[in-house]
Amino acid sequence: MKPPTETGALGEFLISARSLAEYRVIFELDDTDLRGRRILDCPGGAASFAAEAAELGAQVTAADPIYARPAAELRELARTETERGSAYAGAHHDRYHWDFYGDPDRLHGVRLAAATRFGADLTAHPDRYVAAQLPALPFPDNNFDLALSSHLLFTYADRLDADFHLAALLELSRVTHGETRLYPLIDHTGRAQDDLVAHLRKKLHDKGIPTVLRPTRYVFQHGATSMLVLHPNQN
Ligand SMILES: C[S@@+](CC[C@H](N)C(=O)[O-])C[C@H]1O[C@@H](n2cnc3c(N)ncnc32)[C@H](O)[C@@H]1O
Repeated sequence: MKPPTETGALGEFLISARSLAEYRVIFELDDTDLRGRRILDCPGGAASFAAEAAELGAQVTAADPIYARPAAELRELARTETERGSAYAGAHHDRYHWDFYGDPDRLHGVRLAAATRFGADLTAHPDRYVAAQLPALPFPDNNFDLALSSHLLFTYADRLDADFHLAALLELSRVTHGETRLYPLIDHTGRAQDDLVAHLRKKLHDKGIPTVLRPTRYVFQHGATSMLVLHPNQN
């Protein structure tokens, strides 16, 4: 595994590979949330959510700028980024609760399996993976029943400012007529983003988008115990 950065920061955006099992707990999803529903996963990264949820009858579109790259390059990137992410988590062991995964080796196993599944699905179902970048997505208004956004907003608040966050949230909300769920609400070093969350909730409220904070059963990073849920625009 590659060594983590010296500073304790994660460096470039990590292209992580979460599984359906992780998304289920993170976003409190059950089979009825998935079956027959049109779901946006943005950023999709190297997650196997799209592939696995499709087997349960969901129609998932994953959106991420990395999908502009050739499939073979993406498969390799998914693998090397899984090594980088696992090395980072192992080196910062005390920033995490390990109850869900057990230990860094098991975390690595879960993520490598997801990355491999993602790689196979890229070839089998390339149409599921759309090269796109927040805050401007190439989808019509109300195109999805549910939008999920894991580990981009708030996670990278060290380089994405409040205006970017607001524009991205409005865009996710535009393309779904149902809920938009976001997690986590702390950054990748574990810093709480309460002020940013409060600022964005106020802005969204003013634009007719009600929000709630919902507790999640998934706990990995210390303090990451809730998701932000945007309800459909009331205007
Ligand atoms: C930590 S990964 C999260 C992937 C997946 N949601 C997961 O939980 O495993 C962050 C992803 O955000 C993507 N990303 C970076 N900037 C983005 C943007 N402006 N819009 C959409 N995705 C972006 C990166 O390419 C990367 O794949």
